[in-house]
Amino acid sequence: MRHWWYGWIVGLGLVATSHAEEVIKVGVVLPFSGVYASLGGDITDGMQLALEIYGSEIAGKKIILITEDSEVKPSVGLTKTKKLVFQDKVDLLVGPVASNVAGAMRDFVHTAKIPLIIPNAGNNLLTGEKCSPWVIRTSFSNNQINGVMGPWLYAQGYRTLYLMAADYAAGRQMMDAVRRGFIGAGGEIVGEEYPPLRETKDFAPYLAKVKAIHPDALYVFFAGGLAIQFVKQYHAFGLKGEIPLTGAGWLTSPLFLPAQGAAAVGFTGALNYVPSIDSDENRSFQAAFSEKHQRTASEFTVQGFDTGRLIVEALKVTGGETDDKSALVDAIHGVRFTGPRGPFRIDPATNNVIQDIYIFQMRQVGYNIRHVVIDKIENVQDPPNGCKM
Ligand code: PHB
Repeated sequence: MRHWWYGWIVGLGLVATSHAEEVIKVGVVLPFSGVYASLGGDITDGMQLALEIYGSEIAGKKIILITEDSEVKPSVGLTKTKKLVFQDKVDLLVGPVASNVAGAMRDFVHTAKIPLIIPNAGNNLLTGEKCSPWVIRTSFSNNQINGVMGPWLYAQGYRTLYLMAADYAAGRQMMDAVRRGFIGAGGEIVGEEYPPLRETKDFAPYLAKVKAIHPDALYVFFAGGLAIQFVKQYHAFGLKGEIPLTGAGWLTSPLFLPAQGAAAVGFTGALNYVPSIDSDENRSFQAAFSEKHQRTASEFTVQGFDTGRLIVEALKVTGGETDDKSALVDAIHGVRFTGPRGPFRIDPATNNVIQDIYIFQMRQVGYNIRHVVIDKIENVQDPPNGCKM
């Protein structure tokens, strides 16, 4: 006899099932441990909400998610991807969070011709020089988020910038993007530091250098546990009133904000989503999420949500068929919607998302600390950057 919760669990894809009913298997490679563990959790919550809202059964087939922990390690991410393809025989893949893990997975999925939908990792190469018909990104490229910020900061009157980011592909690519834009506008980079991704707990040595050089602004990329530590230490170091803090907007994600509190106030960032976006789509998304989880949905949740919605809408077009992978990718290219972050579509020239980028400042509004949108750049689309499909 089936337990009452059986359909629910399968429908939400929390477990694989061995019974005869036909299923569509989505292999999910995300971090559930390590520096980005909470990001993997938010993306999964977002995907599950999309399946509940847009349908977890297509043409009589249940969509199930089979999740694997990448541990934010490239070799682990690749091994888990192979396990999902060879052992679980998944129909398509979703993941990862980190650019270095994405880099490690790329050649395998390209050769295996299994569609991979990236719900976070911004590695420019995967929708640039190393693009693939089988790699589609619903999140952002590292250029897309940071490219707009160089000229924008220069236009605000900043003339010198100090860069600081986690030392791996994403941090390097993001700082390259802001450096290009800022120097192109006429500004000067007066220093840069790259603390290790996994090990950094103490930012004091780096902050001391910034204090000594005293740039017009500091521009950073940190996420996960690093973002929480960095913001608290920046505040504790007494730099907040002295050197404006700017950067890639994940720094003060709703996922990290409860741990950062008032230390986050004053940060100016760029991102593809903030919870304060004033639209019906966003309001109803946040209401549905908070009813289920009693917290604010983050940009990571939205990327998971839009990924889930994209998969469901594409499967509706193919009638639940996944064997013809080209037809599935064509269907993905045809999906367009306005979601919580605004208009969403995939650029068939690069397989990267085209989306609005929001520039916001963290402000105390009454009793709350809010992401206040101060500017918006619409329809930001990456150039092909060497991508030939
Ligand atoms: C990345 O590694 O591409 C990455 C990780 C976390 C973020 C953004 C980008 O918040």
